[in-house]
Amino acid sequence: MKLTVIGCGYLGATHAACMAELGHDVLGMDADLGKVQLLNSGRAPFFEPGLDDLLVKHIASGRLKFTASYAEAAQFGDLHFIGVGTPQQADGDAYDLSHLFSAVRRLAAHLKGPAVVAVKSTVPVGTAPRIAEILGEFAPAGEKVEVAWNPEFLRESCAIEDTLRPDRLVLGFDSEQSWGEAVLRECFAEIVEAGTPTIVTDWATAELAKASANSFLATKISFINAVAEVCESAGADVHQLAEILGHDVRIGRSGMRPGLGFGGGCLPKDLRGFMARAGELGVDQAVAFLREVDAINRRRRERMVALACEQLGGDLAGRRITVWGAAFKPNTDDIRDSPALAVAQKLHDLGATVTVTDPKALDNARKVHPELGCVDDPVAAAQGADLLLHLTEWPEFSHVDPEQLARQVADAKVIDGRGTLDVDAWRAAGWTVRVLGRAS
Ligand code: UDX
Repeated sequence: MKLTVIGCGYLGATHAACMAELGHDVLGMDADLGKVQLLNSGRAPFFEPGLDDLLVKHIASGRLKFTASYAEAAQFGDLHFIGVGTPQQADGDAYDLSHLFSAVRRLAAHLKGPAVVAVKSTVPVGTAPRIAEILGEFAPAGEKVEVAWNPEFLRESCAIEDTLRPDRLVLGFDSEQSWGEAVLRECFAEIVEAGTPTIVTDWATAELAKASANSFLATKISFINAVAEVCESAGADVHQLAEILGHDVRIGRSGMRPGLGFGGGCLPKDLRGFMARAGELGVDQAVAFLREVDAINRRRRERMVALACEQLGGDLAGRRITVWGAAFKPNTDDIRDSPALAVAQKLHDLGATVTVTDPKALDNARKVHPELGCVDDPVAAAQGADLLLHLTEWPEFSHVDPEQLARQVADAKVIDGRGTLDVDAWRAAGWTVRVLGRAS
């Protein structure tokens, strides 16, 4: 099939490359010319394991290219995926849909024949009819352009696997006799035939799928982190407790890792966007508990700052703190709402001299946080430190030799915010170790 992907960020660029991998002819479209040039040279404008290889492979195979022209995209094929970003509004909890609406309007102006516009962007429920209205108003083909809803559940760091082998496929349409369903079933034929559960539903249910999935995942993480607060006071160990709970198949282990909590471009935003939309619909009571889920998550960062102050005797002025981790989670260079950087920033504001290190996200951290010191090597970053904080659980950090590191620092004190360091080995190397969620 010939198809396009409008908006080539984390979601769109990955989707475009994966659709080419499925054998389709794909044109990715992004308004940012610099991004388009980079993608056409086989490089993603962000780090995602395996993505550059897939881009190179399919630019060479001729099945994948990128453009900055809406007209070219509209003429390329009949199926247009929309993966434009819908960030949180600068002054509120709701989604900012301006980029999405603008992209649909600009594409619509060139849609002269029948087409399916399949939206993947995460939105508040009730957006699909507004997209249909825009298409009806601006597309020369008018009602021959159909809107389909196809939410995307990919996780950064395993985005390719999640796209090619998703755990479910959700397709939302306005009517039961939809041409769009046939088109999308053809597009995803390989995935459907592999036995992937495929749920065909209405627009509203498909729109709600993403917001409710991410709110549930956030709730699970905050649940175990709330228990961590109790553990610290009660002298218990939340990591062992998470293991005990996880053996119950009804609870499960995944998404139950206690620590500094969730960040990134999705979970915090989707949680707040879900609450904002429920409020508009007059059912805010139904999701009032999500306010607490968000609050528990924010408290993890405050707790880490408080522990750092405690370890340094209360006054941070002039103290040197090294932060291991800038990305919101390992195996990505994404620093959006990164718990590690939020803590680093706060400690800097309290007067500490903060040095950050990260295997992939340091360039992004430098751009957004010029006030923080940035050093590539985790051992060099800890030179002369009064305190080390382990805030993003990159495997690279677990491989550092604590004995060698102890010789670099001014004071061998570490707080493990993710609970993945080998506490016994660090203590044996002379470190004072605190773990978030364990009593001192
Ligand atoms: C998430 C959803 O998982 C995905 O389905 C959706 O499409 C986009 O949002 P992502 O943001 O890439 O994906 O990351 P995820 O792996 O879910 O982790 C989110 C955050 O939660 C990270 O900050 C991570 O460190 C944290 N987390 C995750 C925990 O603190 N504990 C856990 O057990 C799991």
